[in-house]
Amino acid sequence: MTTTGNRRRTLPLLTDGPHGSRSAATCFYKCGNACDHPEPNTSGNTHISSVLQRALGRRAVLGGTGAGLGMLVLGGSLGSAAVAGTAGSGGTGTAAAGGWTPVAPNVRDNLTVPDGFRSRTVMAWGDKVYADAPAFDPHAQTPESAARQFGYNSDYVGVLPINDAQALLVNNHEYTNEELMFPAGVYSPDEIKKIAIQSHGLSVVKLQRVGGPTSGEWRAADPDNRYNRRITGTTPFDLTGPAAGDARLRTTADPSGRRVLGTFNNCSGGTTPWGTVLAGEENFNQYFGASGAKDPRYATSYARYGITGTGDRGWKDVDPRFDLTAEPHEPFRFGWIVEVDPFDPTSTPRKHTMLGRFKHEGANIQIAPNGHAVAYMGDDERGDYLYKFVSADTFDPRDTQAAKLRNLQLLTRGTLYVARLTGDDPRALDAAGSFTPADGVFDGTGEWIPLTSDTTSYVEGWSVADVLIDTRLAADKVAPTRMDRPEDVQPNPVNGRIYASLTNNSKRGSTFAVDEANPLAASYVRDAIGAPLTKESGNRNGYVIELTEAGGDHAGTRFAWTLLLVCGDPESAETWFSGFPKDQVSPISCPDNLAFDSRGNLWIATDGNVLGSNDGLFRCPVDGPSRGRVEQFLTVPLGAETCGPLVTHDDRSVWVAVQHPGEATGSTFDSPASTWPHTHDFPRPGVVVTWKA
Ligand code: FEO
Ligand code: CA
Ligand code: CA
Repeated sequence: MTTTGNRRRTLPLLTDGPHGSRSAATCFYKCGNACDHPEPNTSGNTHISSVLQRALGRRAVLGGTGAGLGMLVLGGSLGSAAVAGTAGSGGTGTAAAGGWTPVAPNVRDNLTVPDGFRSRTVMAWGDKVYADAPAFDPHAQTPESAARQFGYNSDYVGVLPINDAQALLVNNHEYTNEELMFPAGVYSPDEIKKIAIQSHGLSVVKLQRVGGPTSGEWRAADPDNRYNRRITGTTPFDLTGPAAGDARLRTTADPSGRRVLGTFNNCSGGTTPWGTVLAGEENFNQYFGASGAKDPRYATSYARYGITGTGDRGWKDVDPRFDLTAEPHEPFRFGWIVEVDPFDPTSTPRKHTMLGRFKHEGANIQIAPNGHAVAYMGDDERGDYLYKFVSADTFDPRDTQAAKLRNLQLLTRGTLYVARLTGDDPRALDAAGSFTPADGVFDGTGEWIPLTSDTTSYVEGWSVADVLIDTRLAADKVAPTRMDRPEDVQPNPVNGRIYASLTNNSKRGSTFAVDEANPLAASYVRDAIGAPLTKESGNRNGYVIELTEAGGDHAGTRFAWTLLLVCGDPESAETWFSGFPKDQVSPISCPDNLAFDSRGNLWIATDGNVLGSNDGLFRCPVDGPSRGRVEQFLTVPLGAETCGPLVTHDDRSVWVAVQHPGEATGSTFDSPASTWPHTHDFPRPGVVVTWKA
């Protein structure tokens, strides 16, 4: 029970879903009940800124992904003592080494941060984005009001400086939880769908630093229509790259095949060295229904992408382009990486076909030593692949308009690759059916297999456009490694290595054979904090993998890999923290979005904790004696996942998005499982900054 004002409520259970710990609500809203459908990958393949900152004028990334041009230089207020390379003598429960005491697992309906830190919800669902937006009123929502207010279910967080005191927040709005957004009996089903379409997309919001230049505290500035912007499910986008204009991308409304209305299911993303933001269109399949037969020409493609035409959100009832029977090509216009220039609010955002079409988690850019821009990407589905793109042209670091125009074309020409990972040990299975490496380490080598350039396809019998539109099917032909839901793939700006989170896969060891990179056929979970560990089949807690490009060449085709973390409760034998003492780490489950601080420490957000706790954000050094020391920095409220972590370049601010607070079976607007951020008696997803008090 929880008390909200003087009302007492029964909290719906958070662990009553059909798919592990995920609630039925999560399964429906987040990924369209993907677990209930056959794995789309039926191939036989192996399973498995201060930087640009001043250089780009004020358009430097504040931290996170755009690096590659230099080291992020966080001062240390968030824990410079806990940097990579320092002695790892600290244990959990003390303030040793990190300057903060790790947050313990909990099920509070709050954002919990270490002692000595403060947090603010900077923007939440319904807040004004435009100065003339209507005030938030959940009983008087319209599509027009939603298009001018902050959207739902915040995910990726980008913070791009304007000057020392001001910055732009760019935030994805991945999806909607209609049962938590709308009071019962107020809206018609069609009204709800139209509002939901406008509650997707992205927001750009001007920020104001509170205090002097050394302060880590930020708030939203008064809405400033010179910068602030909503991009929604109906905003026009231009398609770029070799597949733009292809017959499969043409529809009744767009015979050119080059202009798409809207973006949705924007999950994670990345901030580029040229001052734009990338976002991944992830579970786009769930938005399409079918009023009748589906075009048989696309049966194989639809199946590989999980486009079933059933169990959808019913958007076809308010816009026929979401009806596969009427518009069989509309789904080919989603599943791309989109690029938004937040400094040019009149610019038309773009979808880059050159980066392939799949369930894009996000894209993160590293500038290779030879100047080419490399985008690292994951396809978030059980058994799908890691990808990278290498630009044909080189990054221009100058702070000129000409350089910017040139850099804005970098993602339109180049080569798309998919990863194959090979272990260095012979296959050997333990009693549980898990892979046991003879050398005691999950590691090996890998290669980036070219799929297509902008002019030449490397998949026999497939055109360039074929590869880019049906990327999953094309990749199936070249034997890449089937991974356990690749999410963020993030270059470390300090050591140059690449880190990817592999969230989980309950069917590893059954549908998907184990291998050295995907080793677990069984793992341990808890129903609640303090409850006994119980064994379940598959990889339930996920991994973080580290890739080292051969010769440090991000544009090359060979790499080495090792599992940095086999996540879970450190009491479980199967977990691995790169050899760091397990009695000194925090339990961690289901790694998802990643970030780096100025010292190159990895920050890991989680989604779907199966150890009884709310999700959280963790710091993990990756070099030196502290490598593998996972410590929890914060937890998010009940029912929420942690998204969009960002540590600013001065190390003074940690940003996260709190996505779907209160998402639980039986949880509704009128009887929610969470009321975070406690401004109302229902939950409001949003973006939070944390700083040292
Ligand atoms: Fe939207 Fe891959 O999580
Ligand atoms: Ca090995
Ligand atoms: Ca995610």
